Amino acid sequence: METSPRVRIAASILSADFARLGDQISEAEAGGADYIHIDVMDGQFVPNISVGPLVVKAVRRVTRLPLPTHLMMVQPERYIAEFVSAGADWILVHQETCPMLYRTVQMIKGLGAKSGVAINPATPLALLEEILDETDSVLLMTVDPGFGGQEFIPTMLDKIRRVRRMLEERGSTADLMVDGGINVQTAPLVVAAGATVLAMGSAVFSPEKSVSESISQIRRSIGSPPEVLEE
Ligand code: DX5
Ligand code: ZN
Repeated sequence: METSPRVRIAASILSADFARLGDQISEAEAGGADYIHIDVMDGQFVPNISVGPLVVKAVRRVTRLPLPTHLMMVQPERYIAEFVSAGADWILVHQETCPMLYRTVQMIKGLGAKSGVAINPATPLALLEEILDETDSVLLMTVDPGFGGQEFIPTMLDKIRRVRRMLEERGSTADLMVDGGINVQTAPLVVAAGATVLAMGSAVFSPEKSVSESISQIRRSIGSPPEVLEE
């Protein structure tokens, strides 16, 4: 019998305390996060500026978790090799910034990293169709990118279901990642709709709770136990 893949949690450091980034990442790892999601913002594609390869390199030194690196930037192909050599092993580029998306996805895979194609809430799914068989993952933005702590756009639930159907029709095992406004309330809904990876910032790094407590609550909300590591 086929079993569906375990839902994974990607802790987005955008909402972490950057003055103690190393500790926060260790807390996320110890608390059961599966990935550390790094948001790169260029002040052009999105109205905010965040971090570059230097921070990826620093993060790489403090964790062994995979680092999905979300490039919210124009002309990402200019920097992909640099991010990969800094330690990013999963590169997510936006459909909206990549006119030669096929070539960009091949470039990522050619560098030995996992690929992902992200799309904004208002971008139609038809623009994903021709790349679905090439990419290792799809990242559906469930808010317009640029800032942490925004509210989940409810109509995105139907969009998640439609991507899930598109993947199933192709027999694709690509991951379906969602990003933006995912918390204990919305996590069960996006998982039921077909998401397999949840990128979360403010729900993981919240001032009110410890990181591990936040991750446990999210796991309980989706009925997904932490992975038992084999010796
Ligand atoms: C938004 C970023 C997200 C962000 C999510 O532009 O791509 O990864 O960290 O933050 P929350 O989970 O707070 O919505
Ligand atoms: Zn992101």
